Amino acid sequence: MAVTLKDVARESGVNVSTVSRALNNCYGVHDDTRRLVLKVAARLNYRANQVARGLVTGRSRSIGLVISDIRNPFFAEVARGAEDAAFHAGRDLVLCNCDLNAEKQKHYFDWLLAKRVEGIVMNSVAPLGPALQDQLRGAGVPVVLLNLSSAHRRSRVWRFSSAVADNALGGEIAGNYLIELGHRHVLHITGPRTHGNFTDRAQGFLKVFRDRGLPKPEVIYGEHTFAGAHESAREQLQSDRNFTAIFAGNDVIAFGCMRAMMEKGIRVPEDVSIIGFDNIEMSQITSPPLTTIDQPKYETGKAAVEMILSMVSKGGSREPEHRIIGVRLIERESCRSIPGAAVPDRKPAMRPAAGGSADSGSAETEAPGKESDGGRGRVRPSPLAPAPSG
Ligand code: RIB
Repeated sequence: MAVTLKDVARESGVNVSTVSRALNNCYGVHDDTRRLVLKVAARLNYRANQVARGLVTGRSRSIGLVISDIRNPFFAEVARGAEDAAFHAGRDLVLCNCDLNAEKQKHYFDWLLAKRVEGIVMNSVAPLGPALQDQLRGAGVPVVLLNLSSAHRRSRVWRFSSAVADNALGGEIAGNYLIELGHRHVLHITGPRTHGNFTDRAQGFLKVFRDRGLPKPEVIYGEHTFAGAHESAREQLQSDRNFTAIFAGNDVIAFGCMRAMMEKGIRVPEDVSIIGFDNIEMSQITSPPLTTIDQPKYETGKAAVEMILSMVSKGGSREPEHRIIGVRLIERESCRSIPGAAVPDRKPAMRPAAGGSADSGSAETEAPGKESDGGRGRVRPSPLAPAPSG
């Protein structure tokens, strides 16, 4: 049976409230008594009952993280950043996986609130219907959304805080890179059309082709899993074998495409170049290592939890903050140049900075601009970002 405060009190010869104050390091307990109580508690292997503590304080000193697909290594890295920030602040992180299922998402949301978490970080690509939005708002705890689409700028979802990569810029960087390598017949194989992060990437990608007067690349929306992308690429190969490059909506999609090419004897990058998005750790160990757009995953998770903690410290302030996370090109070996291709000019970028946001009250986390990332790939800063001044 679990050892209780009463057991420690009996063994120490003091009352329960003295034990509680001694264990919680409160004032008004003599040093000798505190030492004795700690010794007895250790000997009896006493563990504080967090559930009971939560009932008394109304808080559990924990933060919920609801992700959409635990199989995607992107989320492991986000969760790691979130966990570090929570741990550092003396909080526990509770991880829930909702499989992009709106019912599961709601179930976990209710469950986390019942557990009295102090705040919730939630991936927002699964449907965030009006009922769930009202529930989130009425929950009385801060909420930070991940992967929030820029399409929500004019919707009421924007009243939640968010931490999200500059997806449109990432799409532009991928597009410019392939164009400058000489690719003209390009596919974009990506995740579901309903997921704003993927449509933002697609829009940025298509924009640079449009700006340079080049033919519009075909966009193939599908499942953003290895199997889904493998299937999409296989189907594509049945009708079109003339493309020279693929921009994959994320790295897992890129791996599915690579696999489909390999099965048909199509070489990457000699026959087809592939660029991904995310820069998950595994992208370094594929053959060839994947060229990709890096979004700082660890930093995103960390920033989201820090935003929650800051809102908690301000007494639950609900003033939304939108943190845009900078993206950059990581050049490895999965893309090749097509010699002799003329590169048309592009329109000057209208963007203020990589990841810059026009929203008042928004903050920005920049990816560090550096020339090398320790042999893991050549880092190219965004071609659209202005040179740092000073
Ligand atoms: O929905 C999952 C995807 O969204 C990840 O692969 C990552 O790209 C994130 O932004």
